[in-house]
Amino acid sequence: MCGIVGYIGHRDAYPIVIKGLKRLEYRGYDSAGIALFDGNTLEVTKTKGKVADLERVALQKNSMKGSIGIGHTRWATHGVPNDVNSHPHYSNSGNLVIIHNGIIENYEPLKKELIARGYTFHSDTDTEVLINLIEDVQVNENISLEKAVQIALNQAIGAYAIAVFDKRVDGEVVVARLGSPLAIGVGENEFFIASDASPFIEYTSSAIYLEDGEMATISLQKEICVSKIKDGALVDPYIQKLQINLEQIEKGGFDHFMLKEIYEQPHAINDTFRGRLLPNEGVIKMAGIDDNIDKFLNAKRIIIVACGTSWHAGLVAEYIFEEFARIPVEVEYASEFRYRNPIINKDDILIAISQSGETADTMAAIKLAKQRGAFVFGVCNVVGSSISRETHAGAYTHAGPEIGVASTKAFTTQITVLALIALRLAKQKGSIDNSQYHYLLHEMEQMPSKVTETLEQNDLIEQIAEVYKDYSDCLYLGRGFNFPVALEGALKLKEISYIHAEGYPAAEMKHGPIALIDENMPVVVIATKKGHYEKVVSNIQEIKSRKGKVIGIVTKGDTSIKAIADHVIEIPETLEPFTPLLTTIPLQLFSYHIAVKLGKNVDQPRNLAKSVTVE
Ligand code: F6R
Repeated sequence: MCGIVGYIGHRDAYPIVIKGLKRLEYRGYDSAGIALFDGNTLEVTKTKGKVADLERVALQKNSMKGSIGIGHTRWATHGVPNDVNSHPHYSNSGNLVIIHNGIIENYEPLKKELIARGYTFHSDTDTEVLINLIEDVQVNENISLEKAVQIALNQAIGAYAIAVFDKRVDGEVVVARLGSPLAIGVGENEFFIASDASPFIEYTSSAIYLEDGEMATISLQKEICVSKIKDGALVDPYIQKLQINLEQIEKGGFDHFMLKEIYEQPHAINDTFRGRLLPNEGVIKMAGIDDNIDKFLNAKRIIIVACGTSWHAGLVAEYIFEEFARIPVEVEYASEFRYRNPIINKDDILIAISQSGETADTMAAIKLAKQRGAFVFGVCNVVGSSISRETHAGAYTHAGPEIGVASTKAFTTQITVLALIALRLAKQKGSIDNSQYHYLLHEMEQMPSKVTETLEQNDLIEQIAEVYKDYSDCLYLGRGFNFPVALEGALKLKEISYIHAEGYPAAEMKHGPIALIDENMPVVVIATKKGHYEKVVSNIQEIKSRKGKVIGIVTKGDTSIKAIADHVIEIPETLEPFTPLLTTIPLQLFSYHIAVKLGKNVDQPRNLAKSVTVE
């Protein structure tokens, strides 16, 4: 939900900010803008469209000078995406300029008060209200920008990561965060500001991640001063060493990040295993679980909360936990859970799953569960993210940066982490016997190579995509462990190709969706050998006798389904609980190829953003 980038130092800010914005475009891409200051002139350039459009406008204006710059790529909340609503926004005097990721919820009453005091507004945004509020405080109290930002933010309700500067104070930018991420890259006499570290990793590996409720004044003269927004109390900044490198955030020869990330899955799952899955020793080591083992063993119930694809991973986990660890599991949309007065007991464990670790609804669900006394465990991909810090303990997925907006490797590595946890608990509880446990661990170790084998179906999947690219609907059916995969397959197709798709448990078809079936309805059926196979074969017969088109995801060597389906895509044989790690792959590739063939923007689908930091 919006990306922010800033630079303050001795270099030209323009190329650094523009390149940084391109890396953050996954966060929002409906408009972009930049403010540059060269010590004399403050120049704001902004436009509806992408960062590439911004570059064109800046080139025409020839406004690329300055060694202080702040830039923004927007995912619209208040006000349609147009030039005026794009960030940065000026204050009325033209002295202050701001970029903002988040929402100021009480902007309307604040705006009314400011209008009553003579302020005028050009945009429909909450951000323009905030910058004028800061100006109003600064002028009335005759105080520094830093102090004015602190006072103004105490009047604002909502979420924000902001960067503000005052053209009368050269070499200083004030930043603050609450509910939206903000990292400060610390170089030699230069500083970088960004929603995540990707815009500055080639310049510095040292970063300060502001905590919620913190602000910082970054000054070339006085370095960095971090303080609490609430009371201005000083905080000792903690400088971290970054773990990501440039290669990880570039496309590496692939046409799209999504395809690269699909192909990274064998490697990513191996990274998830590293140091944890030790089949020869018969051990699963996970510090977050080991340190809290009693809590897990005594838990009466596990509640999983997440959104979107992460929620689908939670559903797969429900089946896996109940199969192996025999602990009751409920899976909830975080957005529903947080608002429905849920019953949470002290001996419940809440597992929050989030790739970005920033999803606002998931974060709110965590806070609610904590207030009510539950132990909260996070499964996140982004190291140091807000959710990973808010939870009592957790396990990272270690999938590496996921930049394509459609989640792929995050999903399979989430399932991997959750399966490891389930097996770790099953062993400790004795809910599976020793030989079964050892067998499962060895089979699990095989999954990366089985994912690689599944990826070899890519050419066939591309051909099948060519056949179905112009259909307007698609059904996805699966049972048991693969019912959530059907949901995930449908979500992938919807979000990147804009084709209407629905996922259903296969047996539910006859309770309604079967009415949709005719020769215009392709149906993707996940029909692995051990997953209620005969029943799913009957479902396929039912579809075929109503002229539906069937694409079967089957176990290698299956001949029965091949005889009746229009197409089959094979996956290697594995234990049924692990099949989601394989059946997901063809569905990711199918949606990818359809979207490419339709000329859609695969990595940045319309209306979406990678981290959803607003409700
Ligand atoms: C779909 C997708 C979204 C996310 C959802 C949750 O491909 O990426 O549905 O899964 O927005 O995001 P995280 O996992 O970051 O909490």
